[in-house]
Amino acid sequence: MNKKSKSTHQLFDQNNPNMRLELFTWPEVEEYLRQCKGIILPIGSTEQHGPTGAIGTDALTAKAVAHEVAKRTGVIVTPTQPFGMAEHHLGFPGTMSLRPSTLLSLVHDLLVSLSMHGFEKIFIVNGHGGNIATIKSAFAQAYRTISNMGSPTSQSFQCKLANWFMTPEVFKEARLIYGDKEGQHATPSEIALTLHLEPSLLSKQCKLPPASPVGPIYDYKDFRQRYFDGRMGSDPFLATAKDGEKFLDKAASALSKNLLDFLEES
Ligand code: NI
Repeated sequence: MNKKSKSTHQLFDQNNPNMRLELFTWPEVEEYLRQCKGIILPIGSTEQHGPTGAIGTDALTAKAVAHEVAKRTGVIVTPTQPFGMAEHHLGFPGTMSLRPSTLLSLVHDLLVSLSMHGFEKIFIVNGHGGNIATIKSAFAQAYRTISNMGSPTSQSFQCKLANWFMTPEVFKEARLIYGDKEGQHATPSEIALTLHLEPSLLSKQCKLPPASPVGPIYDYKDFRQRYFDGRMGSDPFLATAKDGEKFLDKAASALSKNLLDFLEES
């Protein structure tokens, strides 16, 4: 952080590689809060990712990016929320979805909990496009709740949504490597990141017939008919672990910068 940083947002310990909330004690969290009001909350999804992609792709990737951002910035990261809004993927076995209203309540409750301890800058690292609308709705609802709670600092409570796969750096790189074979679901970029994180997934990769073209999303039965094997216009066979490492670095560096800017913002 530069010298103009607000004292309340000074970073706790940039040399500590272990900024995982689950490993902190409460007195340590209290101490951290005296120096930094920021926290990272990763959210994924547990849903089909085509015939060769892991069900946990969106949670694995959100967690990895969030942990890397925590390491680089010294900001605490919470445990990863592995379930998201994946209603349209329910036609494929293994998918576990929260209804939008459930996810909204869940995110709302987590935000309100954090605000009660004095966290003011919540940075959500999201791995799934289907969560975006609901997470934004949860922000609006949490602002209202926290304001109604009458806390004198309610005005300083701010949430930011960071979709790692949509950062311009990652998006551009994915288009450059995969062109229109990047598609919109079970994309080679997200599969590449999982191959980097979990080498055992390499054994599942194989050549696939061309995917159904990208189109609309309705209910889960329609989705299964329209996108026969779960992919939307993508060719995940193009993914390599080496590219995955590059995507992790690009996402983490872009989001670390976004987070530090967010902490500085009034
Ligand atoms: Ni995904």
